[in-house]
Amino acid sequence: MFKTDEECTGREYHEATKHSWLSVRRSPNRLNWDNRPASMKFYPESMPRSPLLKSVPAHNFIYHIGGITAKKSYPGVEYYLRTNPSAGALYPNELYFQASGVEGFEDGIYHFEVGSSSAVLLHPLRDDEGIEPLLGIPWRMRGLLFLVSSPYYRSAWKYKNRAFRYCLLDAGHILGSIEAASRLYNHAYRIVYDIELERLNNFFGFGREEFFLSAAICAVPEKEMIVKVPDTAIINADATGVFEPVSLIEAAYRDSMKLKGCEKEPGYPKFTFDKRRWEEAILKRRSIREFSKKAVSAAQFETIMNHLTQPVPSDCDEPVQIYAVINRVEEMQSGIRHEGGFVKVGDFSERAGYLCLEQRLGSDSAVTIFLLSNGCNYRALYQKAGVIGHRAYLVSEYLGLGCSGIGAYYDDDVNRFLEAEGMVLYALAVGA
Ligand SMILES: Cc1cc2nc3c(=O)[nH]c(=O)nc-3n(C[C@H](O)[C@H](O)[C@H](O)COP(=O)(O)O)c2cc1C
Repeated sequence: MFKTDEECTGREYHEATKHSWLSVRRSPNRLNWDNRPASMKFYPESMPRSPLLKSVPAHNFIYHIGGITAKKSYPGVEYYLRTNPSAGALYPNELYFQASGVEGFEDGIYHFEVGSSSAVLLHPLRDDEGIEPLLGIPWRMRGLLFLVSSPYYRSAWKYKNRAFRYCLLDAGHILGSIEAASRLYNHAYRIVYDIELERLNNFFGFGREEFFLSAAICAVPEKEMIVKVPDTAIINADATGVFEPVSLIEAAYRDSMKLKGCEKEPGYPKFTFDKRRWEEAILKRRSIREFSKKAVSAAQFETIMNHLTQPVPSDCDEPVQIYAVINRVEEMQSGIRHEGGFVKVGDFSERAGYLCLEQRLGSDSAVTIFLLSNGCNYRALYQKAGVIGHRAYLVSEYLGLGCSGIGAYYDDDVNRFLEAEGMVLYALAVGA
């Protein structure tokens, strides 16, 4: 049942940031290159930092969650590409973590400094200190607690009001990277949205430029050790260089801070991949820029869909509907598939590309996937779409196929095409 706007968060923001054929032409995104925000955050050099070593399992685990895997140079710009994809390669997220009883790290709160591939110690922890209470846990969690933030202007610089959607999707991809790396290291993990966000933002000394979106727990409880949040806040560093506030995004974030009627997802996804090839997929993953228009096999399609529909463990699970536009799958009719059946049959490949703002990726793919939700907790449902998107990337890569996220589409036209209600969250093109 589609809940009313008053009951749910994010609805107004989503409505206000829809693309249509007309809106895209009326207000095209013009970029001011002189005012481009930095895509990496650096704390002062005086702070202790440990380079992440391949030989230390916990270091390597962190590296797999957003480490740099390639560099691209264009006149005047260099992009450092990472294990996680990001809309426009703007990387509007930062990753922090608390390590406790983890080999290779002194107990403390760290920033993953992607630019130098190191962990910066922001706050060493005493035995009775920790961020656990801000995640609703009174005792020490031994292991790693991850926190995903967003210095949103990195994305808003380009995508303006719609950028909050990208910040959430990209954050979901980081959570998806945590899931993927956990599979490699046999860690259990679960995502946490029910966080005392205001206190956490204050503890990290954030101003309005950066805010936390989610956490992930890869740790086990030590119930005899009660902890409290450290008294002294962390001293913040600049995350963007330039910053211009975007009131619609800040209002959407404030609105999304509260959670309503959350249901837990206790289940775990069952990934049975060969670990060596899975690691290769994590490290080699790239967004495909052009498809050869070859068909994929029905077995490949089923494997991908099977992984997208597996549980995403979290404390606030929202339904995400998956629609697959079949363009080129061997021994399968073309058309729109949903929950194992066809909504309609026919060759809709050109239409699928048109809906993705006329991007060929949407037409030339074997399958163009749309994720929709009529859930109530915007922050949680959007990041879940990012996790599912990350699975699409990695499973495609594992199978020797390609994938690209697509954040730009004509929202209402997609609904009409799919004959489905619900917010359109994300599109993904998969193929050969
Ligand atoms: C949320 C999201 C939306 C994206 N949207 C598009 C898109 O509309 N068109 C496109 O060609 N690529 C899109 N991409 C792919 C990015 O451009 C790509 O991830 C980025 O350039 C980094 O390259 P890499 O994925 O190869 O590391 C998107 C990626 C994400 C995560």
